[in-house]
Amino acid sequence: LTEVGIVPEKAMSQLTCPDVRELYVHDETERLQLLELSLTLPKIQLTDVDVQWLQVLAEGWATPLPGFMRERQYLQALHFGQLLDLKKKVVFVGEEDDGEQDPWPIDETISQSIPIVLPIDEIQKKAVSQQIEGKDVIHDKIALVYNNEVVAIISDAEIFEHRKEERVCRQFGFNDPRHPTISLIMESGNWCLGGDVAVLREIKFDDGLNEFRKTPNQLRQIFKEKQADVVFVFQLRNPIHNGHALLMRDTREQLLKTYKNPMLLLHPLGGWTKDDDVPLEVRMRQHKEVISEGILDPAWTVLSIFPSPMLYAGPTEVQWHARARIAAGVHTYIVGRDPAGIQQPGSSDPLYEASHGAKVLSMAPGLSHLSILPFRVAAYDLKAKQMAFFDPSRKQDFDNISGTRMRTLARNGETPPDGFMAPAAWKVLADYYKSLAK
Ligand code: ADX
Repeated sequence: LTEVGIVPEKAMSQLTCPDVRELYVHDETERLQLLELSLTLPKIQLTDVDVQWLQVLAEGWATPLPGFMRERQYLQALHFGQLLDLKKKVVFVGEEDDGEQDPWPIDETISQSIPIVLPIDEIQKKAVSQQIEGKDVIHDKIALVYNNEVVAIISDAEIFEHRKEERVCRQFGFNDPRHPTISLIMESGNWCLGGDVAVLREIKFDDGLNEFRKTPNQLRQIFKEKQADVVFVFQLRNPIHNGHALLMRDTREQLLKTYKNPMLLLHPLGGWTKDDDVPLEVRMRQHKEVISEGILDPAWTVLSIFPSPMLYAGPTEVQWHARARIAAGVHTYIVGRDPAGIQQPGSSDPLYEASHGAKVLSMAPGLSHLSILPFRVAAYDLKAKQMAFFDPSRKQDFDNISGTRMRTLARNGETPPDGFMAPAAWKVLADYYKSLAK
């Protein structure tokens, strides 16, 4: 695969590709000192989505970001889709450059297609500022609070304007507030609070799924122990049908031509999703059934939760999904039809052209540590009675079993055709859809 250019040479030699920058404070004395200091600091309450981004940052999925973006990095993400440097500001003529640079070296292009910011409103802005000589000056250190506990401290803080409409237009190519994430962003504060973040408590949730929350460093260790010589990842936010499994199995077959022990990171997104997506807890049970029924072999599959919230920003977001997985030592990223897609509000058409995600990702700058495997659409082949890659020359033989169709089947107590989904996995889903219907 290296010879034909499918697997970059770089990937071959780098099971331990770039180091992970965790933002957890591991030193116990320092942690306790910071917790004590936090008692005296102004505080910002985090929302559920804020804390999910904090987890992303804390665990190092957005390496080498040292915290919520400052304006400089925000502009890089929004305008270039990349992280160019970690300098603290843009210096204008006549201003003094204090030369302050984050010590983490950036010597290559790093993909960063989406901003990671902490929006705050007018009242919060006031709460973290003080009047000095008639001017609003932001406190240097601010505590971040979630569930009545200080979870982190921002240092060297900066506030900049959150130009939401402009952000949304650039990030989504679209600004209709019926899009659920656009609506969330438009409702958020008019300011962003950026700065270096020190995380003081492990971020876990009360949902019985913490054993599946593995950091990039923990995943690297797991793959090392399992003696994986290459890791491929499948990002998903939907239940797994046999079409998804086809992509994963096909990838493994391709990798086996070069590697001895390719392992799959089955990596469902665990952060915020829109209301009509299947909840994480149900998806996890469904995924476990797919593995226990042998559709994905437990010998080469590691199931773990990716902490990011969902954005539904299509080709822009899929670059984030891929880039984040580099931290976990992943070499090969699977992408198929309409990744991170959503329907156009008020229509059944997809918002983004369904092949663009895979096409864009295959060309995206800043992903040199990854090999991208773009796949065609898989659908149910009525002749072969199994999921197969769509063949446009015999369109009529294929049935695309949509989420809406699955819901209707479940509600009516019917089952999908044999070969669509592992029966025990279907049962988990059918029970969930039935419970919704009640
Ligand atoms: S996503 O938001 O995480 O991208 P989803 O869970 O639906 O959504 O998809 C997971 C991955 O499977 C994505 O790479 C997507 O492109 C791919 N995919 C989903 N359905 C199909 C399909 N029918 N054929 C090919 N690829 C698909």
